[in-house]
Amino acid sequence: MLTSTAEIVGAAADAGRGVGAFNVIQLEHASALVAGAESAGTPVVLQISENAVRYHGSLEPLALATLAVARASSVPVAVHLDHATDVSLVHEAVRLGFGSVMYDASTMSYADNVASTSDVVARCHAAGVYVEAELGEVGGKDGVHAPGARTDPADARAYVASTGIDALAVAVGTSHAMLTRDAAIDLDLIARLHETVPVPLVLHGSSGVPDADLTRAVRAGMTKINIATQLNKTFTAAVRGYLAAHPDVVDTRKYLAAARTAVTAEVARLLGVLGA
Ligand code: G3H
Ligand code: ZN
Repeated sequence: MLTSTAEIVGAAADAGRGVGAFNVIQLEHASALVAGAESAGTPVVLQISENAVRYHGSLEPLALATLAVARASSVPVAVHLDHATDVSLVHEAVRLGFGSVMYDASTMSYADNVASTSDVVARCHAAGVYVEAELGEVGGKDGVHAPGARTDPADARAYVASTGIDALAVAVGTSHAMLTRDAAIDLDLIARLHETVPVPLVLHGSSGVPDADLTRAVRAGMTKINIATQLNKTFTAAVRGYLAAHPDVVDTRKYLAAARTAVTAEVARLLGVLGA
């Protein structure tokens, strides 16, 4: 059933459980993510990123399909807009019925970030939509998502108070789109952020984190765990394997079904790792 992000993430934070937040790029992702959550018997967050919107050329077709998959699910499923820098996309997601958005102003100066995020929060809260955001202007191509970036607990607390956000993405050692699972995360910092920050914490770039550290991160106080690349690896490996074994196949359903089955199993496994 389609459920608000506030309800799913809030309940998990209260119970010290993790919530898997997985990216939808094709419809097969949405089906597989929900099938994996149903097999694990846990809630899940389906997220569509601004990059995926750019790839498809618009939000609405994939969003409506994802919302329909969420509504048909036997477990609670939230639909979230991921890494939005375009405020008009945030408003479109609100209009379409998303439960939450991540407004990513992390490349702005602190003052601009606080001002624009506060404005997004006011408009989203008026519509009952939960807002995740991120602070910190750090140099380099990957900005605040660089592996060396760290969120200061006192700054994080002040940022949450100034903006009124509902969940905070923090920099604790991960970086986006890692193909190896050997990121070194700062578990002590997660614990300090958890003590200091009054809203649930979000780990981005979680594909690079080994299973045991994902479990430890949740135990230390991390709640929403964003994973995309790991499932794309799984998806692509299954397609490659299927096509190599069946070189004459032309029906796209054959190899996409193989990908969907593989992603379903990996999602169920990851939700177990997260204690979801
Ligand atoms: O917002 C989405 C995530 O941070 C996914 O990152 O592709 O490195 O798992 P990842
Ligand atoms: Zn991210």
